[in-house]
Amino acid sequence: MSQRKPVRKAVFPVAGLGTRFLPATKSIPKEMLPIVDKPLIQYAVEEALEAGIDTLIFVTSRKKHAISDHFDSAFELETRLAADGKTELLERINTIVPDGVSRVHVTQTEALGLGHAILCAESVVGDEPFAILLADDMIRNDGPGALSQMVQLHRESRSSVIGVEEIPDEMTTSYGVVGVDFDDSGHRAIHTIVEKPKLEDAPSRLGVVGRYILDSSVFACLGNVKPGAGGEIQLTDGIAAMLSSHPVLAYPFEGQRYDCGARQGFIKATIDYALEQPDLRDPVLEHLLQVLRESGRI
Ligand code: G1P
Repeated sequence: MSQRKPVRKAVFPVAGLGTRFLPATKSIPKEMLPIVDKPLIQYAVEEALEAGIDTLIFVTSRKKHAISDHFDSAFELETRLAADGKTELLERINTIVPDGVSRVHVTQTEALGLGHAILCAESVVGDEPFAILLADDMIRNDGPGALSQMVQLHRESRSSVIGVEEIPDEMTTSYGVVGVDFDDSGHRAIHTIVEKPKLEDAPSRLGVVGRYILDSSVFACLGNVKPGAGGEIQLTDGIAAMLSSHPVLAYPFEGQRYDCGARQGFIKATIDYALEQPDLRDPVLEHLLQVLRESGRI
């Protein structure tokens, strides 16, 4: 059983087509779209590093060189910034992936679904518990990040852990939805997990967000999964198959989550992150006030 080992590896599935952001995502991956001045994938990587991850595994499709380029050193750019004395910028690009952290890129040759993408990382993950972060779910928190919180719960409980939040009735068809019972320690033990159920079939209103810590036994389960919702190999179905032999907890993390896979969430995240930047806060607030006045909202 892999649960007793620490969580050191994180898988980032980044091979999706990003159709909701076309034409922007025609030639760049949606994970490279920036919130203020950092691409979505970098926020997810930072959250993983903060949680103690030392191996980043990107599951990409062949067209996604931009992601490996982003995390590689950029010799010409670095030389230029150094020559111009732009030390702060140089520091910002040099520290994206700190020393001692390894990166592995795995290719998913066909877009067969999230479960299939995770299965592509099996040989790199091996027999260890591992994290999965979906970069288009951004989670902002003043205290420890969502994955850090989940690593803590994994350490205490030795169970797999899935990030969840309450979702409105009309959204069950967009999420994995879990049914839970409280166990003796007061944790929410998942007894059912269903991918994108109709409202009448949803076991609760607890939706899965893109943060998982899973036992490596999920790979064997995924290997037997048949195409499910949307005709895809679903991670949710692999987790469902794991439930009878491995405890999986649902964890309502602390933090604000933005669905940056949709335009509305992406714009909200952009505004909130901009307001955190000392040099942007006042001009952005001024602009928002002006927009509110002009639209008659205030
Ligand atoms: C995926 C998962 C789903 C989860 C969601 C969170 O769906 O399959 O279970 O609730 O991420 O963002 P997708 O958004 O890729 O359709």
